Parts: sequence; C-alpha cells; structure tokens
Amino acid sequence: MNVVTLVGSIRKESLNMKIAKFMQDRYKDKFDMQILNIDILPFYNQDDENNPPQVVKDFKREIANADAVIIVTPEYNWSIPGVLKNALDWASRVEKVLVNKPVFPLGASQGVLGTIRAQLHLRDILSSTGIQARILPPGGNEVLINLAGQKVDVETDMLTDQTTIEFLDSKIDTFIEFINS
Ligand SMILES: Cc1cc2nc3c(=O)[nH]c(=O)nc-3n(C[C@H](O)[C@H](O)[C@H](O)COP(=O)(O)O)c2cc1C
Repeated sequence: MNVVTLVGSIRKESLNMKIAKFMQDRYKDKFDMQILNIDILPFYNQDDENNPPQVVKDFKREIANADAVIIVTPEYNWSIPGVLKNALDWASRVEKVLVNKPVFPLGASQGVLGTIRAQLHLRDILSSTGIQARILPPGGNEVLINLAGQKVDVETDMLTDQTTIEFLDSKIDTFIEFINS
C-alpha cells in the first residue's frame, strides 16, 4: 500500500513533521509512506492551473498514484496553515486528484485542544466541491495530539507518549480497513 503524507508545518523542528516521520517508520510494515514536500509549491494562481510548474505536476501525480493520504497538521489561528491550504488548492483544480481519495486527517499542537478547530476546518475543506475526499469518519477516529511538546522527545525526535502511540496504532488499523472497504 502506498500512502502520501502532507505535513502542515514547514519549520525545521516541527512536532507534526516529527510525528509524521515517527509514523513513517512505525508503520513501514503496513504501508509505504512518502512525505511530500509542500513548501516547494508556488502560491496557487488560477492563471497557471492548466499548465502549472513541474513541481505542482509532480505533487499532483504523487497524490493521484497514492492509495491514500495522511495529513498531519498543526493549528494556526484556529485553522490550517496557509502552506497546507495552498497545497490543497492546487490539488483541487483541473485534475482533481483528491476526489474519492481516502484521507486521514490528524494533528498536534502545543496547546490543550490538540488542533480541534483546525481539524474541523480541514474536514470542511476536504469536503469541498473541488476536493471531495473520502475522509475517515470522525466519530472516535480523531487523533488530536495535545501538549505535543511533552509527548515528542526532542533528543530522539520520537513520539514517546504510550497512550498516544497506542491510540494512533489502533486508528491506523481503522484507516487501513477504511481504505480497503
Ligand atoms: C502562526 C501561529 C498560529 C498558531 N495558532 C494556534 C492556534 O490557533 N491553536 C493552537 O492550538 N496552537 C496555535 N499555534 C501554536 C502551535 O500549536 C505550535 O506552534 C505547534 O508546535 C506548531 O506545530 P509544529 O511544531 O508542527 O510547527 C500557533 C502557532 C503559530 C506559529
């Protein structure tokens, strides 16, 4: 199984990126997970959507060829970061590569609410006309990693909180069943 991952933070020490890399390693026997580089995408411009730059073509092809998408994102000002919205905007036009694509949205923040507002907003965006993703249903499947600075070891970059790891393990299995259903 081939999964691509979008990470909503592009800073070097991103906790969300560390969690994505942790997942890439931990679930390597379940699927191949490629983390796409969204910070090289130019700002979406409708003038260019029919003949976008090569990096956009490559990005869209990676999504089109994937069995599923995992999105790991922080919350910025009660929503998703602009860099992630930009990537989703490119994906939503002309060849609509996210239509019917299984998507598992999750995220981590340093606050207590664990990206809940961003996740709700992201689910709205993923349901829009140009995207129409097949989103993992929310009931019981929302992985909201709060207080993430205490759950990721800065020395090893590993997610270390056992309760979070076990919950994530079970939700990854749920997502694989969802992809195959
Ligand atoms: C521009 C900006 C806006 C933020 N807004 C929120 C917010 O609305 N809710 C929240 O819980 N955390 C917010 N934060 C804090 C992030 O949760 C925290 O910086 C987190 O570590 C970012 O994820 P990262 O480590 O993957 O970069 C914000 C941070 C920044 C830089």
